[in-house]
Amino acid sequence: MKVMVTGGAGYIGSVVTEELLRGGDEVVVYDSLYKGHREAVVEGAAFVKGDLLDTALLRETLAHHKVEAVVHMAADSLVGESVKVPAKYYRNNVLGGLSLLDAMLGAEVKYLVFSSTAAVYGEPAKQPIEETDPTQPTNPYGETKLAFERALRWYDSAHGLRFVSLRYFNAAGATERSGERHDPETHLIPIILQAAAGQRPEVTVFGDDYPTPDGTCVRDYIHVVDLAQAHILALHALAKGHPSSIYNLGCGGEGYSVKQVIDCARRVTGRDIPVSKGPRRAGDPAVLIASSARIVRELGWRPTQQKLDTIVESAWRWMQRKR
Ligand code: UFG
Repeated sequence: MKVMVTGGAGYIGSVVTEELLRGGDEVVVYDSLYKGHREAVVEGAAFVKGDLLDTALLRETLAHHKVEAVVHMAADSLVGESVKVPAKYYRNNVLGGLSLLDAMLGAEVKYLVFSSTAAVYGEPAKQPIEETDPTQPTNPYGETKLAFERALRWYDSAHGLRFVSLRYFNAAGATERSGERHDPETHLIPIILQAAAGQRPEVTVFGDDYPTPDGTCVRDYIHVVDLAQAHILALHALAKGHPSSIYNLGCGGEGYSVKQVIDCARRVTGRDIPVSKGPRRAGDPAVLIASSARIVRELGWRPTQQKLDTIVESAWRWMQRKR
């Protein structure tokens, strides 16, 4: 297939591009580089530097490259920032998304795979979280992702634009060439590894009084390559007539606490990782675990790198190579 990946110069976008190219699909990356990195765009993919709000350029890109499907990953994704600057999230995640949909309708592109998030659930009603559970986001990030998901439903019924929305839990890990590099970095695993590498003095544990076995928050970490594979399955299913659907993407199981992730990183790196205790971070649910049974059942998704050690090792190897 010919696929346009918005946000393909970002962490997950570059891995999705790698996996698409490896499977024989053609890719054009569309990215403003406002957060992405030009060098993260995978060799073999075409590249267009452009803003999501530039509907004309999007439409021209879709037409010029004869794109058949879009993977839409370009977005702002920091929970804390979204609470402080909601306008940015509504502009980029909702207006930007609608601009993309207009361009797709104009260029007659009918399939979209969307990067959604566990943040659409808010404070979950139960664990593991299923797609049918209530969606009550507690911040503008989750709210804007949900707003766009809802828009997709109506574009499907009005225009036949079919979509798969993938609600990511905690994406982590790296491939040989692509890994996680945000500025500022807020995610747990890269922060821990930066501390292991001596690039920051310590890791602050945000709260150790949660109602979890060791008092720290529990998350469902999923290897970025397993995540990328789900996009490819979704694209190919859409092309074969699969109806619009929403899927959680996590590894399920018991998840891992912040303390367990730190212990794992100590094991994997063999380094000392200084830790300090801090207050809870606003808006952090105690536990977020996905039920991914639906995507396993309907698309045959099979994660292959579920062990936390494997995920952390891959991120560490990538970080060591980068230096
Ligand atoms: N944490 C720390 N110290 C740090 C960084 C993180 O203790 O320096 C903790 C957090 O409090 C949280 C856990 O580590 O309990 C994981 O935090 P991340 O920031 O790595 O990931 P989140 O679970 O907060 O965020 C993920 C996605 C978001 C999504 C969210 C859904 O990255 O995009 O899940 O709630 F919105």
